[in-house]
This record gives sequence, structure tokens and C-alpha cells, in this order.
Amino acid sequence: MKHLLSTKELDAATAVGILDVADDMAATQQREVKKLPTLRGKTVVNLFFEDSTRTRISFEAAAKRLSADVISFAAKGSSVSKGESLQDTAQTLEAIGADGIVLRHSSSGAPAVLARSGWVSASIVNAGDGTHEHPTQALLDAFTLRRRLHGDAGRGRDLDGVSVLIVGDILHSRVARSNVWLLATLGAHVTLVGPPTLLPHGIGDWPVTVGTDLDAGIAEGPDAVMMLRVQKERMSDAFFPSAREYAAGWGLNGARFRALPGRTLVMHPGPMNRGFEIASEAADSPQSTVREQVANGVATRMAALYLTLAGGAA
Ligand code: CP
Repeated sequence: MKHLLSTKELDAATAVGILDVADDMAATQQREVKKLPTLRGKTVVNLFFEDSTRTRISFEAAAKRLSADVISFAAKGSSVSKGESLQDTAQTLEAIGADGIVLRHSSSGAPAVLARSGWVSASIVNAGDGTHEHPTQALLDAFTLRRRLHGDAGRGRDLDGVSVLIVGDILHSRVARSNVWLLATLGAHVTLVGPPTLLPHGIGDWPVTVGTDLDAGIAEGPDAVMMLRVQKERMSDAFFPSAREYAAGWGLNGARFRALPGRTLVMHPGPMNRGFEIASEAADSPQSTVREQVANGVATRMAALYLTLAGGAA
């Protein structure tokens, strides 16, 4: 696998293969010495044009655990502010030896442009592009689901028959899109619920069930509820009347959390707006996988870097 750009382009065997490699990587992280020599001599550049905590630091940890050299680049404070283009920035990074570029960008499709333009020969891993995709987030979410539902017996398995309710700002969410494509490919049943104004045009063609009533979705007793962050930074208009109204209709508050079966997992990609889209009672409960998702991000991103940079087969 040369690049990892989207989950839409992954078939089930490849996706399960990535999750299995992530399982292997997770096992190495239980050892006293966590570092592997796999990417010794390779250089990974984290090229982030948008803010990030989890994705940036877990890619950095993943690359270091594989013994790669890591250069972290934030557009803020760089020559991007002087008007330098993505092409020139990437070519500058390749000139100093980048073998892999982990790219987060506000423009949907920027990683694919970089991978297919011929500007650089480095492997490109999409760390989130606009409202398009966030493939490693979806892979770590699927990895977390598989581990919680099947434990060690999950290896080699897909998510056939698992029901996942994804709630909130679907319109602006690259996490939702990557999860929809990946979960559907892995055999899960996905239901999307949000305010009518935050459901994208064309959603009827997605491999999901769509609704606007969160309480009805909760009453179905899904295996997992994935709450999405409301992405105010991508909203040029008022998509809902008030924060209070949004929370009343589509927030996982204490009462809704208590209405869920005890086996239902509560997921959130972070960062969370506590008290708005998710109550602390839900986020901090034993049913919550929020911190596990972050921890599993390191193993999943180790798998992504190994498969793209060491030429491994998923
Ligand atoms: N989930 C996620 O992408 O978080 P960051 O924006 O902090 O990387």
C-alpha cells in the first residue's frame, strides 16, 4: 500500500488486514521496550495545516515507536503565511528527506492531489481533509469496536451485524464519512441521526439508515453510539437555533445515556464539547471508549505507517 487516502477505497480484506496489523502493533506496545526497528532510516513529516491534538501526537508517537525520524510541521508560523503553496511546501519537505507525509488540510481532496500529482514521491497518509475523510480515525474506531466486542478473538474478523448509531453534525464531519464507508464495508449496520440541517445532500445514497430522532435511535439499543463534535469552525450559517436546542434534541445527556443498554459503547473522536453534544456522565462512564480510542490510535497509526512506508501487505 503506497498511500492511505480514504476508507472508501478499502475493500473488506484490506481493511481487516490493517486492523490485524494494528493488533500486532498493539501487542508490541505491551512490552517493556516498545520501540521496533521497522522504519529505521525513514523520515516521516507531519504536515498539519489545521489544528490537532490527538492525530498529530499519535502519528508522532507511532512513527517514533517504529524508529522513524519525525519532523513536525505546523502551517502556523511557517512560510505558508507568506503564500507558499502546498506543492512548494511538500517539495521542500521532500528535499530534506521526507519518505512519508502525514497531511491534515482544510481542503477536501488535498492528500489525494499530493499523492496523484507527481509533485513528490513520498507516501501520503490522510490525517483529515476538510469535510471529506479521516481514514485513520475510522480505522482506530473500528479497531476499538472489534477489541471491545470480540477481544482477542477479533483477529481476522470484520464487524458483521454490529449496529452503530452516529449522531450529530454529519454535514461537516469527515469522521462520519470515513466511518460510514469503513463500517459498511466491514458489514456493520450504520444509522445516522442529526438535525435536518446537518444531514448532507445526497445522504440517501449512502449505505446507512437516516433519521432525526435521537431517542428513537437510542430505543433501538445499538451496540455503539458515536457522538460527533459540532464543527462550528466550518459553519458559515446558523445550522440550528441555539446550543440549548441542539443539546436538547441531539445531545447525549444523562437521561439518554441512562436509557441505553449497559452493553452499548459510547464513542467520541474528540475533542469533546462536554455538556453540549455529550454529558460527562456518558463520556467518563465504563461504557465510554473515548480514551481507549486515543490509545488505539497509536497502534492503528503504526499499522498505517508500516503498511505505507515499509511496503507491507495488509
Ligand atoms: N479526532 C481528531 O482528529 O482529533 P484531533 O483534531 O485532536 O487530531
